[in-house]
Amino acid sequence: MKRNILCIGAGYVGGPTMAMIAQQCPDRKVTVVDINEARIRAWNSDSLPIYEPGLAEVVNACRGRNLFFSTDIGRGIAEADIIFVSVNTPTKTFGQGAGCAADLQYWEKTARLILQHATSDKIVVEKSTLPVRTADALSRILRSGDSAVHFEVLSNPEFLAEGTAIADLTHPDRVLIGGADTTTAHAAVAELVELYAAWVPRERILTANIWSSELTKLAANAMLAQRVSSINALSALCEATEANVAEVARAIGMDARIGPKFLRAGVGFGGSCFHKDILNLVYLCESYGLTEVANFWRQVVVINNYQQNRFVATMVRAMFNTVAEKRIALLGFAFKADTGDTRESPANRIARLLVDEHARVVISDPRALDNARTDLASLGDHVLFEPDPYVAVAGADAVAFLTDWREYRELDFPRLLRSMRRPAFLFDGRSFLDHDALFRLGFNVHAIGRTPLSHLDN
Ligand code: UDX
Ligand code: UDX
Repeated sequence: MKRNILCIGAGYVGGPTMAMIAQQCPDRKVTVVDINEARIRAWNSDSLPIYEPGLAEVVNACRGRNLFFSTDIGRGIAEADIIFVSVNTPTKTFGQGAGCAADLQYWEKTARLILQHATSDKIVVEKSTLPVRTADALSRILRSGDSAVHFEVLSNPEFLAEGTAIADLTHPDRVLIGGADTTTAHAAVAELVELYAAWVPRERILTANIWSSELTKLAANAMLAQRVSSINALSALCEATEANVAEVARAIGMDARIGPKFLRAGVGFGGSCFHKDILNLVYLCESYGLTEVANFWRQVVVINNYQQNRFVATMVRAMFNTVAEKRIALLGFAFKADTGDTRESPANRIARLLVDEHARVVISDPRALDNARTDLASLGDHVLFEPDPYVAVAGADAVAFLTDWREYRELDFPRLLRSMRRPAFLFDGRSFLDHDALFRLGFNVHAIGRTPLSHLDN
């Protein structure tokens, strides 16, 4: 008989991943549980709690058949054979390691719940990104009871990116499964390999020692974020030297050893993972006494914040050193296109910096406006929220693009320009628009990593 699957944590990771397993393995019962009742209600409704292209189709095909969403965590644990854990692991805001280390309290609580409700042997799979050696702590908690139940802890980090989750889950570059070097662990790893082999080619399923697996997730995110900070650092130099960062990125990306992806200069990386995981890595390095290594990775975050400060400084400088009382439309608040997620979004910091300068900020976004409202609640009526980009831009001195939404490329730019105050400024924070064409239309164009195109120069 195929064994039951449970996932604890119905978030951006748990929800889509389990929907994919349910779709690919119709003979498995997959249950997703969460402490958040509203979230579970949303998963059981027509309006899912997260926006992800293609997700609704997968959920609709499986929900009620072999995919279930519930708040009954205890029952879920009792009935499951394989338990994925994808509860959140935010950055600690208190005590030792505040601002850097991962807050593992939800993890520990979840482990104790598993121990409390388990009456048969379980494979417990770490899906959340965790500090290296968390599996060790988890195993110790699970062994602390007096029951005869055997728990085998595996690490199986998720590499999906938001906005492309369904494609990433359908055709993953690789699936990584880490386990201990024991007979029971080998059997558990083999069982998980079998599960994924239902749709992932075997050569893409890697097995590793459990510490390598845990570290790989942090390392992959750190390397990706590092590329973004590297090209962003170069973008500052391009602006100073009249080089064009897009041309530089294109040319270096054609070196097969470097590759073309993740070289787009912009206002910096956001999202729930990069920032948190790098700080986590920094904390780990420090706790092992590796100060130089910690400093190296910390710099990736320093450059990211610098890039946002620099973007706002450019706006203020271009607009005659004052934006006070000027209407500035920020188009895009999501941390990237094709998601409504605004966690750690560069737009958040940029909006706040502009409000500090007393600008009248208007925010528009096709998917993330509700989250933006929540994130910026503390700014009160210093910011306005407007779903229609044309209304947001009307009467503005400047429009700044902070998310590279496809629909923004297709805006009627002559119409936008006609509705703006003169001189009209356009700031491309994602290097994704046709700057020369916009300049010819009459905009004063400032794009990251290239010389400004200004009608105001003599
Ligand atoms: C989270 C982590 O942020 C990430 O590090 C990890 O790799 C995967 O899990 P994500 O799915 O994006 O990523 O988080 P989130 O959308 O916040 O979902 C976590 C869910 O866990 C929430 O719905 C929360 O209610 C739930 N949860 C949290 C529990 O069910 N029990 C808890 O004790 C704590
Ligand atoms: C990332 C990882 O890609 C994924 O493997 C991991 O599981 C979770 O973290 P995600 O945060 O969803 O995924 O988005 P990603 O596409 O990696 O983008 C992260 C940020 O970097 C975004 O803000 C994006 O706009 C920015 N970015 C990306 C750039 O600024 N330039 C680039 O060239 C690429």
